[in-house]
Amino acid sequence: MGKLEAKNIEKYFKHDGKQLKTLDGINLNVNDGEFVCIVGTSGCGKSTFLRTIAGLETPDSGKILLDGQPLSDTGPDRIMVFQEGALFPWLNVRDNVEYGLKVAGIPKEKRNEISHRYLDMMQLTQFATSYTYQLSTGMKQRVAIARALVMEPDVLLMDEPFAALDPQTRDLLLVEMQLIWQKTKKTIIFVTHNVAEAVVLGTRVLVFSHRPAKIKKEVEIDYQRPRLTDDENLLPYQKKILAELRPEVKK
Ligand SMILES: Nc1ncnc2c1ncn2[C@@H]1O[C@H](COP(=O)(O)OP(=O)(O)O)[C@@H](O)[C@H]1O
Ligand SMILES: [Mg+2]
Repeated sequence: MGKLEAKNIEKYFKHDGKQLKTLDGINLNVNDGEFVCIVGTSGCGKSTFLRTIAGLETPDSGKILLDGQPLSDTGPDRIMVFQEGALFPWLNVRDNVEYGLKVAGIPKEKRNEISHRYLDMMQLTQFATSYTYQLSTGMKQRVAIARALVMEPDVLLMDEPFAALDPQTRDLLLVEMQLIWQKTKKTIIFVTHNVAEAVVLGTRVLVFSHRPAKIKKEVEIDYQRPRLTDDENLLPYQKKILAELRPEVKK
């Protein structure tokens, strides 16, 4: 039994009065502490699959299991981080990070203790009382990640969280993300269209086919950490994935 299982997930969306198949029977078994990356062409169904795991979409057939239990709704056991962090501009960094804990009714002292740990981990301590307009895009994404981590979800779901960052900031966060994963031993499912990013982060990379999405190929990335994007030893993995991905772009 895996930590998280997707069993034969199918999903249709209505377009022009017709049902358009988006997910075509996706089967996936993610072990506890795995860092799984999903790559695929734009519009192939990556976000739809992640949203289905989060409980934000209901599959037309198939099911999602967490620790063997079928899921039918959203829950604090699966927290999603989006491309745009969607922080609250009227709250400072600490209050943004503590927001979910406050909603969950955790007392102030305990909230402060937890947020302190994750602000420190994300190197945000000195910005705890800053507001989002005072932060760079990279820092905002750090806040968004800290806000997800404080909830201590079983599974962290990340939908292209670094897509809007400049390459230098992204490279930095790619290293930090690996360190955080090693420190927290979280199970992570990370969607990206960037193959280099997937290879740096993933213990395993899944290549989705063009819509309707199926898992076309799985590539294990067995290589030392922290990995750097410009490490030439990662190129063969990138090439293997690109060879699977390229024919899908033309479809
Ligand atoms: N709520 C929705 N209603 C109708 N169609 C949708 C909806 N969400 C996604 N789709 C369609 O599903 C397909 C996959 O979208 P998405 O999962 O966002 O792709 P990706 O994240 O891989 O770029 C697209 O064709 C998109 O138009
Ligand atoms: Mg998407």
